[in-house]
Amino acid sequence: MKRENFGSRFGVLMAMVGSAVGLGNMWRFPYMVSEHGGAAFILVYILCVFCLCMPIFFAEFIVGRRSQSNAFGAFQKLAPGTGWKWVGLFAVVAPLTILSYYSVIGGWSIQYLFKACTFGFTERITQEYLDTMFAGFISSTWAPLLGHTLFLLTTALILVGGVKGGIERFGKVMMPLLYLLVLSIAVWTATLPGASEGFTFLFKPDLSKIDASVCAAALGQSFFSLSLGYGTMLTYASYVSKKENIATSSTTIAVSDLIFSLIASCAIMPAVFAFGLNTQGGPGLVFETLPYIFSKMPLGGLVAILFFLALLVAALTSAISLYEVGVAYLVEEKNMSRKKAVAIIFSVAWPIGVICSLSFGPLSDMKILGNIFFDFLDKLSANYLMTLGSLLIVIFVGWKMKRQDVFDEFTNGGTLTGNARLFRLVWPVLRFVAPLAILIIFISNLL
Ligand code: PHE
Repeated sequence: MKRENFGSRFGVLMAMVGSAVGLGNMWRFPYMVSEHGGAAFILVYILCVFCLCMPIFFAEFIVGRRSQSNAFGAFQKLAPGTGWKWVGLFAVVAPLTILSYYSVIGGWSIQYLFKACTFGFTERITQEYLDTMFAGFISSTWAPLLGHTLFLLTTALILVGGVKGGIERFGKVMMPLLYLLVLSIAVWTATLPGASEGFTFLFKPDLSKIDASVCAAALGQSFFSLSLGYGTMLTYASYVSKKENIATSSTTIAVSDLIFSLIASCAIMPAVFAFGLNTQGGPGLVFETLPYIFSKMPLGGLVAILFFLALLVAALTSAISLYEVGVAYLVEEKNMSRKKAVAIIFSVAWPIGVICSLSFGPLSDMKILGNIFFDFLDKLSANYLMTLGSLLIVIFVGWKMKRQDVFDEFTNGGTLTGNARLFRLVWPVLRFVAPLAILIIFISNLL
């Protein structure tokens, strides 16, 4: 069977940026920043992106494009008859953890979009009202469940359309739009009196705030945001043409993702300070604070609609990539039709998402290691499973693959001289620095 490929260079990049940019940037990053000391967190985060995530990104890219296979098939193809196929299987199953709870937040965005469309965020709204509304909404039973179901169904329908028709066409239009929108909100917030305190909070690091928990949170966030360790970038890279430059593509994606997270924080934090809102927003930050900001903005009603639409699209393009890992596996390894594969993944992710959604209300007493089910899945994924996946992938590339093969893939058969030079730095990092650093962080997370 001939594999589908992405049609254009721009399309591939947008699909990968689409996977990276999502709720991680607009929902998770700002609240991580506010909970972990502002600029200090951002500083550690940037170091994580460039020093640790980039080599892992290269590694996923190399495995995916070299094998031209789904996450499971890739390890089997490159290391036939070895136990590495279990790593592939891990990479296929693990994304379901994020997909399930991601869909719940995607569902919240649908509900908030609906609220925005019916002009639910009007001028006279107070912060208390928004807080109570959010808390009441997520702890209720049916409305969030409906959102979750709609979100997962929409993702499924786009995936039935396949790589080119569904994923690529969607990402190409929506991602640039999203950037523009969040940037405009950030520009407006910057003009608010009192916004400068917010910028100080974001960009003037207090180094004494950096501790083990800030580092662990920043690393987890960087894996989450760049979609690493879960076979997603690997799967997308398998659709990338052999002519593409791995180093420049990965760097473009990582930098776009970082910039997006920073812009999203600039859209939110300065306003939080300007309006004297609570900086410890937690997971509700985007849903409680932003509507308040919109209610004060000129044309806020319209901006609210556009924002929640953009949030939804960003969430969808990321969910698509999480979903595609499993679909590619079932289609290629189990010879299933795309439709059937999409249905099977749905039947696994939906019930897990239901438990996540209910864990804010009816099931809030059900605690795992002191966390409600939703938080448990989020921490399990970002702080443990993605770290583990990334560790295994760099070890695979650094120690199992032949140096020559890795070199060939990274330099397109030696034709990219810049990459050949860079390889001298990348190779020791892949073999020694990255595995050791990830291992240390992984162990310190466990303690
Ligand atoms: N990177 C996505 C985001 O920031 C989430 C994601 C994680 C997507 C892992 C795919 C794989 O929202």
